[in-house]
Amino acid sequence: MPNGSVFTGIADRYDRINRMLSLGRDGAWRRSVLVKLPPGRILDLGAGTGAANDDLGLQDVVALDPSPEMLHRNPTQRRVVGVGEQLPFIDGAFDAVFSAYVFRNLDSVPGTLAEIARVLCPGGVAGVVDLGRPRRRTAAAIHRAGSGIVLGTVGVLAGSAQEYRYLGKSLDKLPQPEEMFAGGPLHLDEVWRMGPLGFVYGALLTRR
Ligand SMILES: C[S@@+](CC[C@H](N)C(=O)[O-])C[C@H]1O[C@@H](n2cnc3c(N)ncnc32)[C@H](O)[C@@H]1O
Repeated sequence: MPNGSVFTGIADRYDRINRMLSLGRDGAWRRSVLVKLPPGRILDLGAGTGAANDDLGLQDVVALDPSPEMLHRNPTQRRVVGVGEQLPFIDGAFDAVFSAYVFRNLDSVPGTLAEIARVLCPGGVAGVVDLGRPRRRTAAAIHRAGSGIVLGTVGVLAGSAQEYRYLGKSLDKLPQPEEMFAGGPLHLDEVWRMGPLGFVYGALLTRR
């Protein structure tokens, strides 16, 4: 199933189900990254329905997402349909790039990091929050078993079993953030863990 169509299929239920799956913590995890970003022009990459809007406040925000169905529900004024791998902005256009729960859905992480580096001004900061697996192998195995049951049940209850199978698989798709961001075009400043067994990470990266 292509990434974009997953969110198109669940756009009307996305926020509710996301909140339920994160036990109401998705907002706190987003905020842990947002509070570390510099003020100014901000790109919300993979903005979806605009779940971060309240915390972004009155800043100068551009919301980008490939799914018109998700973006349609986003009340942000400046909305752009597009993908992280090919950002339709000039070099140095933003002081910060924020991306919540998007990276494991990307077609290309290196391609998106290169584009983020390009659109950030010198000294600009990228903040990423996403779900994955706990770093330790045993904790990851426990989490894999538990999340399989939870996602399977929610998928059936929500009538979106296929989409939720995709979400479950996506948790194993990427390497740990410490490895994924190392040696890329942005300097990795910080990674921190959140959630049960640390299956959620926040990361800050700077354009030097
Ligand atoms: C799990 S939702 C997160 C939405 C929002 N950021 C939030 O915090 O609730 C993932 C979003 O990433 C978007 N997405 C998928 N592939 C993408 C890509 N290649 N570039 C940018 N966004 C993408 C999806 O359309 C979807 O809206």
